[in-house]
Amino acid sequence: MNTVTTSLGENSYDIHIGCNILQELGVIATSVAPASKHFFVVDKNVEETHAKEAMQAFGGQCEMVSLEAIESNKTMATVESIWSSMLDAGCDRHSELIAIGGGLTGDVGGFAAATFMRGLQLIQVPTSLLAMVDASIGGKTGVNLPIRSEDGTSILGKNLAGSFWQPKVVVADVMTLQTLDDRQLRCGLAECIKHAMLGHQSMMDFILENTSAIFDRDSDVLVELVTKSASIKAKVVSQDEREHGDRALLNLGHTFAHAIEPMSELDLYHGEAVSIGLVAAITCAEATGLVDAERVDQIRHVLSMVGLPVSLPLPVSIESVLQLMRIDKKNKDSKIRLVLPTDSGAEVFSEIDETALALAWTSVGASA
Ligand SMILES: NC(=O)c1ccc[n+]([C@@H]2O[C@H](COP(=O)([O-])OP(=O)(O)OC[C@H]3O[C@@H](n4cnc5c(N)ncnc54)[C@H](O)[C@@H]3O)[C@@H](O)[C@H]2O)c1
Repeated sequence: MNTVTTSLGENSYDIHIGCNILQELGVIATSVAPASKHFFVVDKNVEETHAKEAMQAFGGQCEMVSLEAIESNKTMATVESIWSSMLDAGCDRHSELIAIGGGLTGDVGGFAAATFMRGLQLIQVPTSLLAMVDASIGGKTGVNLPIRSEDGTSILGKNLAGSFWQPKVVVADVMTLQTLDDRQLRCGLAECIKHAMLGHQSMMDFILENTSAIFDRDSDVLVELVTKSASIKAKVVSQDEREHGDRALLNLGHTFAHAIEPMSELDLYHGEAVSIGLVAAITCAEATGLVDAERVDQIRHVLSMVGLPVSLPLPVSIESVLQLMRIDKKNKDSKIRLVLPTDSGAEVFSEIDETALALAWTSVGASA
């Protein structure tokens, strides 16, 4: 078992990464976060498999709610129903919430833990690659909010309500990835590639050299992949818990991704939207003179190699996506703030020339 530490003073915690370590969850939880009651928030797709195994580590009969991991369920209504179930189960301020599932379950379960009786201990048990290397680390929890347009329709604005709430421990068992389908595995790889773009070429080389072993679910390779990628995220979070500085770099590609992810006609998963967002970001960086064309080709190549999309499945209008970028919560004074890749990693830019943005969107297939 490998252990990576997120160093945040009294809020520090370990991320344990290994093979068949779910069986040890009970021991790990009791040692780092003793609680009067354990309440589980579980992704429906892993309820009968990994969640069952995890609950056996607590002696079987456990109080839980399961949820379908779809973005339309990542809402305050779901959080309210978790609160109600916790009350019914007799949870109090000394109880503990254990979230088992992908990033969506971790975000919603984490937000319920952050808010129930003003905050309970939280344990994250990520079961998707994306959640292992990204969503379960760093304490961002939250839900989507509807953004209403003038014609009365609404789309879900990603993660617009939430809080920082660090877990007590993260337990990532790569054996759970045996049941994750390839499309979802690729989505996790998009975040690994994003981490590699922040100045970690050796991580990029590792992905390229081990692509088939990753898709074959080779457990040693997966432990190494998750350890390397989680270490990059944990280090950034350790230096900037509340995103006042360098943590914003982890949003590379995400301001673009958040504009297209809610468009149901595109049918994009989060990691796929991030992949297209990374291409748009590197093209925008090239248009701004930050990187050369060769670097753009390299990034397109790595993303394509692992089977991630590098352009939109359907054209969308540039104006519509720019409009959505303008309401991203990372903006300041209505100006689009963007993380762009540079030769040595990435930097935050507070004002981006709209021509470069339009060019970036055109490069991934958006139209005027
Ligand atoms: N908090 C953060 O810092 C952070 C960072 C990145 C992403 N996120 C959020 O995470 C979510 C994306 O996470 P995700 O990609 O894990 O998506 P997800 O949670 O929606 O899971 C993807 C799919 O995989 C299934 N699944 C999960 N584990 C499985 C397993 N072991 N076997 C079989 N199926 C499994 C789920 O049921 C779901 O159908 C988004 O809501 C995104 O906003 C949060």
